[in-house]
Amino acid sequence: MDAIKVRGGNLLRGEVVISGAKNSALKLMVATLLTDEKLTLKRMPDLADTRFLSGLLTHLGATVERDAASMGLHTERLASAEAPYDLVRKMRASFNVLGPLLARNGEARVSLPGGCAIGARPVDLHLKALEALGATIELADGYVEAKAKKGLIGAQIVFPFVSVGATEHAMLAAVLAKGDTVLENAAREPEIQDIADCLNAMGARVSGAGSSTITIQGVDRLHGAEHAVVPDRIETGTYALAVATAGGDVLLRDAVWKHNTALWDRMSAAGATLSQEIEGVRVKASGERLTATDMETRPYPGFPTDEQAQFMAAMCVADGRSVIRETIFENRFMHAPELMRMGAKIDLRGNEAIVTGVSELRGAPVMATDLRASVSLVIAGLVAAGETTIGRVYHLDRGFENLEAKLAGCGADIERVKE
Ligand code: EPZ
Repeated sequence: MDAIKVRGGNLLRGEVVISGAKNSALKLMVATLLTDEKLTLKRMPDLADTRFLSGLLTHLGATVERDAASMGLHTERLASAEAPYDLVRKMRASFNVLGPLLARNGEARVSLPGGCAIGARPVDLHLKALEALGATIELADGYVEAKAKKGLIGAQIVFPFVSVGATEHAMLAAVLAKGDTVLENAAREPEIQDIADCLNAMGARVSGAGSSTITIQGVDRLHGAEHAVVPDRIETGTYALAVATAGGDVLLRDAVWKHNTALWDRMSAAGATLSQEIEGVRVKASGERLTATDMETRPYPGFPTDEQAQFMAAMCVADGRSVIRETIFENRFMHAPELMRMGAKIDLRGNEAIVTGVSELRGAPVMATDLRASVSLVIAGLVAAGETTIGRVYHLDRGFENLEAKLAGCGADIERVKE
């Protein structure tokens, strides 16, 4: 199995090209199920998750072609309207095929995704949204069996709390519904806007994406289109925190400044220098200790839960005590015990982590159980004394394209090894 070895202490200098956003790309790929014409996605990241979803879409009848930076998806005919357990269990985003299959085929059978390392992660809001659009839903043998024989019908859907996945799923289903759909208390993430832009390029009529109210006027059919995936704000934030922690001066090429303002606010408070440039975002840090800063995760435009672990790694070596509160997922501190094995001082109290910065972390063999937790260990390794070996690299490969090459390109001492 692969592992990543990092020897800490190098400043980072140069540039990192930001890839397309994983969490947008996965939903954009699913949009192929809504049309019999070809969808071409540019700035498409090559990740374990995108490859895995290609497998499911191929099973459902799509032809998927990949070249260096783009992906062509063509689902002329559906081969199946069933997404089996093994293809959904391993990656929750696969569950999003349910709405498009239902919209195109009038019925679908998709495995329930089950829990995951960061919490129970139910899909009740997804199912309620599809029911509001007129689907009948039954749960049998761990599968969702959904029917809408006469097609989906536009509706007003008020989400009781903000859910990225349910907002996206409702949007992907409602574009082909009869009549208008209004989503209230919708998630406002840049990925939602990106998906709406792609759907509109395919002939859909979605307005208001990026705000709390999204209106979708149903259309009879969608057509092929070409769309560039939005740059990954979580990858951007990860490299920004790596530079702030290790010290240096790096241009994050193609990063979109306005997609990370909550992080820039916290990083500036901690003493990093961030600037918006024509080519992207520049991060500078002296390599001196950051100042401990509190943070709380929130739905967008608040601080992203997907950057919480990386921020915690930065705070482990900051000067002072920071309180980090996780409000989105109930079990998202699995990186804390691993950081503690490197010498971090973290006191976990429910959904709060109280981090007392230490002057030095020490390299150690570590491993984590999810993508963002794993990359927080890479950040810790970049600043730790000695060598850190991060196991279970497949977590990193799910969501970070060429991680070690991008960091090594800026001077980090990092390599992938076989264990
Ligand atoms: C998306 O997950 C992302 N995944 C997550 O990124 C991200 O952490 C999360 O949004 C929040 O930003 C993808 O886009 C593939 P939610 P999602 O629905 O859509 C609860 C990563 O590392 N909830 O906004 O699943 C849920 O349990 C991943 O890239 C329900 O109770 O997140 C959570 O507590 C991890 N019922 C909260 O809502 C539902 O039906 C927000 O979840 C749906 C969600």
